Amino acid sequence: MTVVVGMTGGIAAYKAVNVIRGLVLEGHDVHVVATESALRFVGLPTLEAISRNRVHTDLYEGVAEVRHVAIGQSADVIVIAPATANTIAKLSAGLADDLLGNTVLASTAPLVIAPAMHTEMWLNPATVANIATLRDRGVVIVGPASGQLTGSDSGPGRMEEPDVIVDAVVRAADRFAAPRSGDLAGRRVLVTAGGTREPLDPVRYLGNRSSGRQGVALAVAALARGAEVTLLAANLEVAEPQGVTVVHVGSALELSEAATEHAQSADVVIMAAAVADYRPAVSVDAKIKKESAGDRLTLELVENPDILAGLSAHRREGQVIVGFAAETESDDAARLEIGRTKLARKGCDYLVLNRVSWTEGFGSDSNTIIVLAAGGAVVAEAAGSKMSVANNILDVLV
Ligand code: CTP
Repeated sequence: MTVVVGMTGGIAAYKAVNVIRGLVLEGHDVHVVATESALRFVGLPTLEAISRNRVHTDLYEGVAEVRHVAIGQSADVIVIAPATANTIAKLSAGLADDLLGNTVLASTAPLVIAPAMHTEMWLNPATVANIATLRDRGVVIVGPASGQLTGSDSGPGRMEEPDVIVDAVVRAADRFAAPRSGDLAGRRVLVTAGGTREPLDPVRYLGNRSSGRQGVALAVAALARGAEVTLLAANLEVAEPQGVTVVHVGSALELSEAATEHAQSADVVIMAAAVADYRPAVSVDAKIKKESAGDRLTLELVENPDILAGLSAHRREGQVIVGFAAETESDDAARLEIGRTKLARKGCDYLVLNRVSWTEGFGSDSNTIIVLAAGGAVVAEAAGSKMSVANNILDVLV
């Protein structure tokens, strides 16, 4: 395939040479578009030798062949590595003041970016907002990793390793080029996504860190494969997908009611939402005040219905029910055992198991999962963007 590698001006450019090399060694036709600042870090001859093609930098070169549009149109996938904070801001605003900006805007190919910058820049609210915008537009963000930076400091901001970036590029292109169109045609798929919020008073709630990304990716992937999709959306942090029926829910009880109703006509139910196991025994109509609560506040919680177990117990003939389990157990074998026990307890057909921690799983664009089938057998393992993981899960269900 034709891969356009955009290189921008950061010290990680020297590492990005290995992204080009990795793609070339996998047999892809690689065209580098480097910004002028990138060429201050890596020489043009290096990029031409490694990519085995001419390198483009100047917007006003090759005007007769409309190069500023042609490169983007020819791409099967575009990857920008490293992507500096400045480039990310420009991409988010849709600026086209250089050849790379034009190339990206003129392309409909999937875009992968590998951010690289100092931790302070990565955590700056401007960068955080720009990344969120790009993510909502479907841009695949790889990394950054956490570790030693250019100076003596360390933290998140280091460009992800070249082989991880190459892998993300190939996956993004695969997803785009070969949607397994049609293998869910005529099927009705119900997906729950996000995290429930259990109201304490009109201002506060008990919630969880689920962003809804994996559930939304499942809904989008099922739609692309021909399914009629209903998404029960619990407080999503990501944009709602087009083309699926979205039903908004807030609390576990609301989700329970909506899931029970919509499951009746579904062929497949995927419970990706993080459901609160307990809710406050009373939710009051006035704000809880410190004056009355004092220096210690005890909340009484009551158990919520187990939606997945209920749906599994009452499933229709032929209906497939999928649960999720995000577990903090770090030992792989022990986590698998927890998954098997949970699968048996819930009575669903499949359980998608992943590991979460303070830093893993939530809000990120990637996921690593194992799919267990009833009885406990491992039927799939997948790692990658939440979109590619969604397709791996659907492959099992199909
Ligand atoms: N789930 C549900 N209803 C609940 C709690 C969870 O339907 N009240 C579903 C989730 O959507 C998920 C699966 O059950 O698909 C597993 O959720 P999890 O919170 O891991 O399960 P719990 O039974 O709550 O187990 P744990 O004690 O580990 O929290």
